[in-house]
Amino acid sequence: MADGLLLVGASGLAREVLAAGITGVVGILDDDARLHGTHIAGIPVVGAVDDASARTESLLVCVGPSQARRALVARLGRRGVGDDRYATFVARSARIGASSDVGFGSILLDGVVVTADASIGRHVVIMPNCTITHDDVLSDFATLAAGVSLGGTVQVGEAAYLGMNASVRQGLAIGSESTVGMGAVVLEHVPAEATWAGVPAREIGARA
Ligand SMILES: CC(C)(COP(=O)(O)OP(=O)(O)OC[C@H]1O[C@@H](n2cnc3c(N)ncnc32)[C@H](O)[C@@H]1OP(=O)(O)O)[C@@H](O)C(=O)NCCC(=O)NCCS
Repeated sequence: MADGLLLVGASGLAREVLAAGITGVVGILDDDARLHGTHIAGIPVVGAVDDASARTESLLVCVGPSQARRALVARLGRRGVGDDRYATFVARSARIGASSDVGFGSILLDGVVVTADASIGRHVVIMPNCTITHDDVLSDFATLAAGVSLGGTVQVGEAAYLGMNASVRQGLAIGSESTVGMGAVVLEHVPAEATWAGVPAREIGARA
């Protein structure tokens, strides 16, 4: 892996990653040409997303919405950007149990706690103060907004999105590409591609 790291996406998430003390960032890539040559939190925006294929730095995709992040990684893959290019960022104050693992491309912000035997996939984003407990499985491109709590043995499907402070009872599954609203209390399995919210959580029909 080459020296230096590029953040992909001049986003709020990129600024949060910088604020959480990531080191080694030499630039940001973004398709908004108006940003090229400007600085974000002191870091220069050095080019467009596709420029990643002609560069050698490692990469961290900072796109908050799960499916947009997955689409961007797929696009980079079509341009020859391999899995070996992706870094992982775990904020210093995050705690990951020794028996849990985190896949490449993933971002864990401040105060995240991952306890025992949990598995965090690739390009997963976990925002501040989330609690991931024993035997939870977060599939690739899942996103947990700030303060989400998962009981034990919860499965979060690929590219699912859980809003701020949602709680999921132990043993449940959140389907792939589904959305759970902020503040939800999830007491049943959530099917794929659905939007559930409320206490207790019920389908509200729309997709975020
Ligand atoms: C669930 C969510 C995706 C729905 O968004 P939406 O599709 O735009 O839905 P709307 O705002 O049009 O609301 C549709 C209905 O659901 C209700 N609703 C929306 N979000 C809700 C929530 N979190 N809890 C309970 N009810 C909710 C609305 O009151 C509305 O009800 P009504 O039809 O009786 O008036 C969104 O409200 C949400 O919670 N997003 C997560 C936000 C978040 O965590 N952001 C973090 C950014 S880092």
